[in-house]
Amino acid sequence: MPVVIASDHAGYQLKKRLVDRLVSQGIETEDLGPFNDQVCDYPLMARKVVNFMQNNLGWKGVLVCGSSLGMCIAANRFPGVRAIAASTAEHARLGRSHNNGNVLCLGGRLTPEPLALEILDVFLNTDFEGGRHQARVDMLDML
Ligand code: RB5
Repeated sequence: MPVVIASDHAGYQLKKRLVDRLVSQGIETEDLGPFNDQVCDYPLMARKVVNFMQNNLGWKGVLVCGSSLGMCIAANRFPGVRAIAASTAEHARLGRSHNNGNVLCLGGRLTPEPLALEILDVFLNTDFEGGRHQARVDMLDML
């Protein structure tokens, strides 16, 4: 599944490593920036990724800020987004298998690069279980 990715300044360095990983794995990747470490605002970068996903159905999103939290709050403001903030591989596994997360949020200041790469791999390679989780995920769109 193709991936659209963006960060703020605090996530910029980790985003570069994630993009390298995605490209090296042959995954179609759209990097929406930033392309330097100048200060930028996470709500605006989250909106860019969500807007791209709205126009390109079937893509997953990855957002990186300092903590993962601002990006996650911002992305979840948009209908249809199920953004998960993951600081362990198990978070990513559960966020996919139970919550059908479609946007992964990572903290560039908190998550070491090797762990972030592992979390990314788990996020991309874990299927939603459906079943008993489907009705709950459907409820999210009715809240
Ligand atoms: C930027 O300093 C920082 O606040 C931002 O990257 C993010 O962690 C917010 O949630």
